[in-house]
Amino acid sequence: MTIKEYVALKKQELKDFVSSVEVKPHLAIIQVNEDAGSNAYVKGKIKDSQELGITADLLKFDTTISQEDLLKEVEKLNNNPAIDGFIVQMPLPSHIDQEVIKLAISPEKDVDGFHPLSKLNPCTPQGIINYLHANNIKLQGLNALVIGRSNIVGKPMAKLLLADNCNVTVVHSKTSKEDMARYIANADIIVIAIGKMHFLNESFKYKDTAIIIDVGISRDETGLHGDAVPNLPVALQTPVPGGVGLVTRVTLLDNLLKIYKEKYKI
Ligand code: GUN
Repeated sequence: MTIKEYVALKKQELKDFVSSVEVKPHLAIIQVNEDAGSNAYVKGKIKDSQELGITADLLKFDTTISQEDLLKEVEKLNNNPAIDGFIVQMPLPSHIDQEVIKLAISPEKDVDGFHPLSKLNPCTPQGIINYLHANNIKLQGLNALVIGRSNIVGKPMAKLLLADNCNVTVVHSKTSKEDMARYIANADIIVIAIGKMHFLNESFKYKDTAIIIDVGISRDETGLHGDAVPNLPVALQTPVPGGVGLVTRVTLLDNLLKIYKEKYKI
């Protein structure tokens, strides 16, 4: 199943649920930047919400807002019974500590799954696992290589692959080129999330049965590009654009509906 087919199927499932309930799930998005990437993500999240019948509010604040005032806004959403879940779009301006904000979001309303007490996982790694499951890929015993160790993707991805009994290796910017090549040649699944355009290319050897999940997104004058060169000699490679980003977006709404179902005991 391609990513597009998976996302269409998942959207239909979520849409069917939303149409069956009277009180529509309600998402809020706080945005405190004018980042082009964030504007695009936020627009996509609102468009997807509308398509599924989910109510979505965008609360945009000036980048000069203080950390204290932003915390007050988070607290308002925590205490607003009409809001089922919300996210604070990252990145935040440098005078605001992202970790403080992430911890201020009530774990019961944390659609991003960033809070350590959240029952949900971050959307990108969870969405990737769901996509692999939807493709009936038996993960147990596979050599999974995670390239990148971010808190949003690399680390939770490694945890989820481990929970599915993969043999997980995490490599990063300090891994030597020789070790990197050796791990890549041995990998059954590669999840790459480093934001380095076309880092995976023909100079590496791959298993012809390998799966490459490309989380990277870089922009240049010719458009958007992933961390992997397209059409590497492997069994399955997700495209950029039109790949993991779509899965992340639908998983965010899946997380919102999980919160909604828990709240209303459905
Ligand atoms: N910025 C880039 N990706 C994300 C995400 O998944 N969640 C939030 N809140 N901000 C982001």
